Amino acid sequence: MQRQWVVARRPSGRPLEDGDFELVEAPVRAPREGEVRLTTLYLGFDPAQKSWMENLATYVAPVEIGGVMPGLGVGVVAESRAPAFVAGDIVWGMIGWEEQPTVPAAEVWKLPPEVPASAALSIFGATGRTAYLSLMKVGKPVAGDTLVISGAAGATGSLVGQIGKIAGCRVIGIAGGPEKCAFLTDQLGFDAAIDYKNEKVRTRLRELAPGGIDIFFDNVGGDILNTALAQLALKARVVICGAISRYNFDPRSPEMPEGPRNYFNVVFSGATIQGFLMPQYESDYPEADRRLVGWLRAGRLILGEDVQVGFENAPSTLRRLFEGRNIGKQLLKVA
Ligand SMILES: NC(=O)c1ccc[n+]([C@@H]2O[C@H](COP(=O)([O-])OP(=O)(O)OC[C@H]3O[C@@H](n4cnc5c(N)ncnc54)[C@H](OP(=O)(O)O)[C@@H]3O)[C@@H](O)[C@H]2O)c1
Repeated sequence: MQRQWVVARRPSGRPLEDGDFELVEAPVRAPREGEVRLTTLYLGFDPAQKSWMENLATYVAPVEIGGVMPGLGVGVVAESRAPAFVAGDIVWGMIGWEEQPTVPAAEVWKLPPEVPASAALSIFGATGRTAYLSLMKVGKPVAGDTLVISGAAGATGSLVGQIGKIAGCRVIGIAGGPEKCAFLTDQLGFDAAIDYKNEKVRTRLRELAPGGIDIFFDNVGGDILNTALAQLALKARVVICGAISRYNFDPRSPEMPEGPRNYFNVVFSGATIQGFLMPQYESDYPEADRRLVGWLRAGRLILGEDVQVGFENAPSTLRRLFEGRNIGKQLLKVA
């Protein structure tokens, strides 16, 4: 037998709760032709998993009540009935919250040499590909640009800032608390950081970006997006990657925060606001993987990781994202 976390309730319009998940025992299933059985090593956590539970996202299969909680993870092949894999291979993919998942071999990928198991979900999952492709294809950085990132000390934001530095940008991160801000400037080489929980973002942006913001990379939405829109430079690009400040509200409820009041400034600045959704850039994944792995091997990327331990802690580990407790990629070590 093995353990699985299944979805017990949809957390629509409210924060996640313990009762939204149930820990169950289930038999280990032997792989059929074309499948592999894995032992899960790490689970990776993404804010979007809450919206998957609510069936809000159209780019993932609907989540059933009683079904295994979907999620990305890294595992070691325990048993293979697929020619491309042998026992001992380390793979990543959508393996779900399960200790010994049996999955189609076509849905998992081997890690290249020199990429540690824990790094796979920062580099290859939604995180790295999103950071690279959204900045390069939508933000279109030019050396000398001022790049401002919200949610900057999280998994995606911390990579966007480092890629922005490689592209020659002046990088300013917005994050919650002095520890996260010190991580950005002292460890990742950001030019400046704004602690939105203890500083006035509007005042600090005026001081740090007197010529305006060329690229605003938004993970948060709400007040921070509104403040940034008032300070755009001419022809600025606003990349809407996420809006985590909204995820605990039902989109149909009157409590959902209103859209940004300063949106009309895009007229004066001639700015572009564009959304990004990773699955729409599938043909560009090889480029993103190659560049990210290259920079990782060259020591040009630092992967912040917050590693919790123990399969039984999966629900509380997902909640850490919404409580702002993670620095860098939120992971759970399972085995
Ligand atoms: N469009 C896409 O294809 C795509 C793909 C991947 C991720 N995303 C989005 O990118 C964003 C970042 O994802 P991630 O995986 O890198 O997560 P993450 O940034 O590592 O973790 C979430 C962070 O969001 C901040 N946060 C939480 N609640 C907040 C609130 N109410 N107001 C302001 N900030 C809050 C917290 O940082 P602080 O302590 O600094 O507040 C927290 O650490 C999310 O919005 C996610 O949905 C989009």
